[in-house]
Amino acid sequence: MAIKTVTTVAELQAESARLLTSKGGTSQGLVPTMGALHQGHAALARTAVKHNDVVVATIFVNPLQFGDATDLDRYPRTLDADIALLEEQGVDLVFAPTVDEVYPDGEPLVRVTSGVLGEKWEGASRPGHFDGALTVVAKLLHYGIPGAGLPASGKSQGGLPAYRAYFGQKDAQQLALVRRMVADLNFPVKIEAVPTVRAADGLALSSRNRFLDEAEREAALVLSRALRLLEERAMSRQPLDLDSARAMVESQPLVALDYFDVVDPGTLDPLAENCRETPFRGEALAIIAAKVGPVRLIDNMPLAS
Ligand code: PAF
Repeated sequence: MAIKTVTTVAELQAESARLLTSKGGTSQGLVPTMGALHQGHAALARTAVKHNDVVVATIFVNPLQFGDATDLDRYPRTLDADIALLEEQGVDLVFAPTVDEVYPDGEPLVRVTSGVLGEKWEGASRPGHFDGALTVVAKLLHYGIPGAGLPASGKSQGGLPAYRAYFGQKDAQQLALVRRMVADLNFPVKIEAVPTVRAADGLALSSRNRFLDEAEREAALVLSRALRLLEERAMSRQPLDLDSARAMVESQPLVALDYFDVVDPGTLDPLAENCRETPFRGEALAIIAAKVGPVRLIDNMPLAS
């Protein structure tokens, strides 16, 4: 069945309810995106399609999560290609609203606050970013609640459909924050994480990679190499020796390291005791951010022994 694109919340809710009813579906998946889709997003969509009867993807470049207007203007808009990619993965419905549809009264006076978890790492260099991202994710998760567009009589038949939303592990801090928002504020949705998709040479796929020139792209590989080094050390229960991995990144002239640390995957607090001379034990997350030429890149790697 051909994919359908809608632009209003009313259409989204009516159309997803119609799809659920016509398919006799019992589950709905939501894949929130800002467009400029690549194979990482395709993996999110494919996972959602595999596990749900109806899948809705959203494409909305959210002004609230951009620090400055230049960044917002520069963000690539590739709607037709995005819809084609989503259709190939088997997504049923695309919701591509305008800014006025999402923020009809202008910038919201009340927002979701990401708290201390949103102030560290990425939050430290992009103040307000996670408040803006969480605010729109909260709205999108509400719009996508399955059955919201059904007439009242339809809702009471056979219980509520399962509701799942899909986020990439690549944006580890966003994922941790969305999980906390959903748990702390009792959203009726299960958050599913999808592993990072990498190019054959290891570079994590990102909409920003298109801004790297050839030399910068080659230099950027040091991020995934350093993460892989930690992964190998963790798996073989060696000391992580984070300092030597940091030195490896810092030796690359085109790369300006912002942070590189080993943290608790839920709180993102550094695990200082588990990353130097003692053999690695347990589970952790290695996170890294750097500017490569003009482009800020982030990456991470789950560590387990
Ligand atoms: O990860 C993204 O693309 C965005 O931050 C999201 C979750 C779609 C919210 O705008």
